[in-house]
Formats: sequence, structure tokens, C-alpha cells
Amino acid sequence: MRRFLVLFILFFAIASHAQQNDIDARVDRLIAQMTLEEKLGQLTQLVPDQPEFSPALAKGLVGSILNGGDATQINELQHAIVANSRLHIPLLVGHDVIHGYRTIFPIPLAIASSWDPQMAELASHIAAREARATGIRWTFAPMVDVARDARWGRIAEGAGEDPVLGSAMAAAYVRGFQGSNVAADDSLLACAKHFAAYGAAEAGRDYAAAEISERTLREVYLPPFHAAVDAGVGSLMSAFESLNGVPASGNRYLLEDILRKEWKFKGFVVSDWNAVEELMNHGVAATKQDAALLAIKAGVDLDMWGNSYVTLAAAVRDGRLPQSVVDTAVRRVLRAKFQVGLFDDPYTNPNAAAKVTLTAENRAAARRVAQHSIILLKNDGGLLPLPKTGRSIAVIGPLADSKADILGPWNSQGKAEDAVSALDGLRAVIPGISFARGSGILDGTDDEMNAAIALARNADVTIAILGESSEMSGEASSRSSLDLPGHQQKLLEALVATGKPVVLVVMSGRPLAISWAAEHVPSIVQSWFLGTEGGNALTDVLFGDVNPSGKLPVTVPRTTGQVPVYYAHLPSGRPADDKDKYTSKYIDIPLGPLFPFGFGLSYTKFDYADIALSSTSMKSDGRITVSADIRNSGNRDGEEIVQMYIRDLVASVSRPVKELKAFRRVALRAGETKRVEFTITKRELQFWSTTPGGWIAEPGEFKVWIAPDSASGPESKFTLVR
Ligand code: GLC
Repeated sequence: MRRFLVLFILFFAIASHAQQNDIDARVDRLIAQMTLEEKLGQLTQLVPDQPEFSPALAKGLVGSILNGGDATQINELQHAIVANSRLHIPLLVGHDVIHGYRTIFPIPLAIASSWDPQMAELASHIAAREARATGIRWTFAPMVDVARDARWGRIAEGAGEDPVLGSAMAAAYVRGFQGSNVAADDSLLACAKHFAAYGAAEAGRDYAAAEISERTLREVYLPPFHAAVDAGVGSLMSAFESLNGVPASGNRYLLEDILRKEWKFKGFVVSDWNAVEELMNHGVAATKQDAALLAIKAGVDLDMWGNSYVTLAAAVRDGRLPQSVVDTAVRRVLRAKFQVGLFDDPYTNPNAAAKVTLTAENRAAARRVAQHSIILLKNDGGLLPLPKTGRSIAVIGPLADSKADILGPWNSQGKAEDAVSALDGLRAVIPGISFARGSGILDGTDDEMNAAIALARNADVTIAILGESSEMSGEASSRSSLDLPGHQQKLLEALVATGKPVVLVVMSGRPLAISWAAEHVPSIVQSWFLGTEGGNALTDVLFGDVNPSGKLPVTVPRTTGQVPVYYAHLPSGRPADDKDKYTSKYIDIPLGPLFPFGFGLSYTKFDYADIALSSTSMKSDGRITVSADIRNSGNRDGEEIVQMYIRDLVASVSRPVKELKAFRRVALRAGETKRVEFTITKRELQFWSTTPGGWIAEPGEFKVWIAPDSASGPESKFTLVR
């Protein structure tokens, strides 16, 4: 058997190598026939409704489109380009398939709350199958930007604040989108974005400059991109923002030195929307042609929307741009077109989509992913789960009956009419359940608030579904306040003032500073935007058919003013201490976040005990294991996300107070105990040294935790010896 396996792997490696050689040969033959204008056309991505599009299409001078429409429309465009262009090169059709195509899954920040890469892989695989059936071959996903500032609207699109969780999710999305064969009819070429450190935008303001150290870049913002490259991602998207004064889309250090020389990335880089021409706004290019020259020389192969690369023909002819730079970019783009099968068959069966779209199987998967994405933040007195009978329930809030908002931002072809709102889900279990909006998301009237309060007074328990609209997160949606928007805080306080128990469900694309609720509301659920099946999944949790297992992928701040607040912070010379004035804290709020990274409750209870190490010292080329007992001491089965953190106590530079290094979902029946073990090697202990530039692990003492979150759990110590 072993011999067979070795032979199979060998055969597979040889076959894929041969296929790559064949593709390279076909690419070279094609390039040898192309004019300069045709080459620059391959480096141009347009939207069909752009004025430049039709003339370019007619001459075969456009290589890629985004948002090309349905299968019929895309087929027409492919027929046009293949028929019209001299060399019959098909279009590479891209689209933002971020968390679903027509069946919409929870937003990526919600999927990250599952801490389950399989959920990301499942969601992206189904999304790929639905999108590919319409002729789309390339998705501008996964978005892998680490985000430590909840004011930034795009925190919704990623996996939160941690590079280890972010890396695991990034690789899973690439596997899910690309599958084992990126040309298959259920695969899409993936695109890790936005390279790099877009999430470090100053003050959480989208598109703002990012100023971070090389060590923070290497340790925090780059790892998920590296994980995506290691997982075989076929493309990356260069970001809008300037990084330490050099715009990412003109940044050769990022795009050439790190991405290609260090990481050996072989795919292609597409700019973000018009980010090439925007180099002029950054003040690093005087003209559109200068911007194009800067971008292509830095390593941006494909210009999205800006149509800047057509200006490079003159630069090649007058010697400012070597033809070889253009050919290298064209080779990368053409190679991808061969790899996704476009030259074998550029067309799509227009009837294929109906068979694979919004199927019962896809809906069931969306519901399952959503169930895993919900976080129980508080449950005093065990108010949840609610009984399905015997108690009257009032549902209040502007998001309760919203079928559009539950899809979240970047919902591609998701349709509100397909969605199950929270109220739909609750009424599927209790048909007569009463509902009143109480207020809008941003506006509201006294009358509707009074009507809601009256409803709550007459009910035994109220479910308040409050938060943000889906447009309040995502791109260009930074908020200067993390409070509940509009009159919703006033509504919540009025509902609590009725004296009846309240369950707060927070529907949002970012963590909200719900300090008052955390103090006064007995049960709080963070639901994010859960997608097409969100109302059913939320109902499954609220009534206890599903035991919530989600944990925070981001820190929840007490106030907006506390931001940025994240768990893996440096210790400070005066670590926060509420007994000592002269320490690093605020005088007007308690210490620490409202809810810590990694936190989430369950309807059962998990206890951590007996942490132990296989050895208290470890050589730099060795390994030790750390383990602990996790016991389900409650009365129902559940799943716990067990986390392993380390701290380097003394090093040549100040190190974070904690760093997540591993995690694992563990299913435990009521009363069951499992011993969970993690392995520690040098890899888990190293940090980025700027002199001479590289990963190093320094001898010394380390703390290690096996924990339910970043703020608790048993700890132990060991020494790394030279
Ligand atoms: C947008 C976004 C990017 C997206 C692209 C195409 O500006 O920044 O994430 O993929 O344009 O829609």
C-alpha cells in the first residue's frame, strides 16, 4: 500500500510538472505572436459598462473583466473576444465572491468566529460552484487583512485581529475556492487581498495611510498572505493604502522582494480598483503613465478598471520600460488563463447554474456555518436557551425582520427574498411571535418606540435584535463611533426598564462598544451578519437546538475611545494596574476590553485543569508538548475551542503579553473530559528580528497557556535553551 502511495504521489507530481511545462510552452508560443498593444490589453481589466470597454473588446485588447453578468452575458462576451481577437484569447472573468455567490454565508468575520477552517472551506467551495456555473473563473477573495481597529468597516470581511487564526482561515478559503483542480467546474482562482497591511489604516479610516514597523508588518499583517501563498493561491490584489510612505500598489519591496523573492509566489498580482492611477493621488506619480510605470515595475501585473497600462506602449517604445517587464506580466496572466481551463473551453453551459444554485444542500451548509459562527457573550441566570412553549416572547428591533441586512456587505448575487430573517426563523418555530421595530437603525419615532415597549411589557421575555445595517461595514464604511446607532441604545434601555428579561442579539459587521448592555442585559449574542439562512441558525441557537460554540476573533472594546485595543499588545513599562495611578490605562473606564479576543460561552460549562509540559526545557531544534484536561462539567454536549498562547518573558525586544499559537475545536459530551495536547517547536517561539532580518527564537523563559480565551486559563512555564 505504501509503495502504491509513493508511486501515486510521484506520478501526480510528474504529471502536474509536465502539465506546467506544457502550459509554459503554450504561453511562450502565444507571447511570441502578440503585438505590444495586445500584450498591454492582457494586462487590462475593465467593467463592461466602462466606455473604454467595447472599443477594446472589438480589437481584442482587453484581457479580463469584472462583474460580467450572468452565464449568457459572459458567454456573449467570450464569443466576442474569441471571435474578434486575432489570437482568440478568452477573457478572465473576475467577481467579488467573498462569502457566497447566490447562497450567502455569514460574513468572513462571522465565519472566523467559528475558529473552524472547515467552515471557511465549505462556504468557499459552495460559493465557487455557484459562481463558476455562470462563467466566473476568478474571485477577489479571500480578504485576509488583519484588523485591530473596529472603526474600519472592512474588519467585517476578514478573520479579525490575529495572524494565526487569520492564516488558518486564509489557507482554508484558498483550498475551498481553488480545490484540487482550479479548472474544475466547482473551482475558482482565488485572490488573497489586499496586499498588504490595508487593515493598519490610520484611525480605522478606510484608504488612510498605514505606518507600522517592519516587525509588526512581518509578525501581524503578512502571515495570512504567506499562508495563502503557501496554500497555492493563484493571485494577490495590491492594496490601496500607502505603507510607511510607499503605496502598496507601487511597492516593490512588498510585490517583488517579499512576495516573489522570499515567498516564491508564481501567480499574478492585480491592482485594486484604479489603485494604479491613484498613485498620482498618493503623490508618487505625476502622470497616469508615470503611475503605470511605477506599478508595473513594482510588480502589479494587471490593472483593474483604471485602463492605465495602455499608456505603457510609448514607454516601451522610448526605452523607459523594458519589453521584458511587460512580457513577464503577460506570461503570469496567460498562465493563469491556461490553468483555469479557459483555452480548453471558454464557454459555460447557461443551464448549469440553476442546478447548483441555492439548492437545499447549499442552504443547509449555510445554516450549519452560521450556527458555528454565533457567539454567546453573556447568559446570566441561564436565560438562554428559551423554551419554545409556555412563555410569550416579543421580538423587537429594526434588524429583526430585515432580509437584506442579514446578508451583510459584499453579498454578491445574494437576494433578500432568498434570505431567512431573524423574525422568519423565530416564527418558523413560534408562528404567532409578536414583533415591533421599536426604532429604525438610524432614525425612529416615539410612537414606534412606545409601541415596542408596550409589546415587551406584555411579554414574558424580549428578544432585542439591534445593531448596524449591512452598509455600515464593508468598504468605505468606517465609523467614528462604535455605539449602537441611532435610537437603538435608548430603545434597549427602555426595554430593560420594563423589568422583563431581555436577550440582546447584536447584528453587526464589527464589534460594538456595548458596555451598557454588558452591565444591564442578562443575555447577549453576537450574531454578525449570518447570511441567507441566518434567521434559522439564530433561532436554532436561541431555542437551544444548537449549543453555541463561536469565539471572538476580535476584541470587543468598552468605548470607541479605547480603540485600537487588541490582546497581543506589548506590555509597556507600566502595565495597566487599577491600584496604581501611574500605569497604562484610562481614568474613565475599567481596565481591559469589554470582551477579550477568543472569548465565547456555551450552554454547558468547560473547565480547564492540570496543564502539564512534557519537559520544562526545550532545545531550539527540539520540541515539547503542553496539555491540559478540558472537562464538560455542564449538562449538555458542546464544542469548545481550546486555545494555546505563549509569552516570551525576556527577549532582545519587548514581546507581546500573549500570542495565539494554536487552537482546536473539541467536542465534549456532558460530563466528558478530554486531554488536549499541543506541540511547541522553535516555530512557535520565534519573532522577527530586524537585524539582520529574519525569524529568530532566543533562549530564555516562556509562559504557555491552554485557555478558553486570551484572558484566562491555566499557565505553565518552560525554558528554551540554546
Ligand atoms: C474594491 C475593493 C476590492 C474589490 C474590488 C473589485 O474597491 O477594494 O476588495 O475586490 O474593488 O470590486
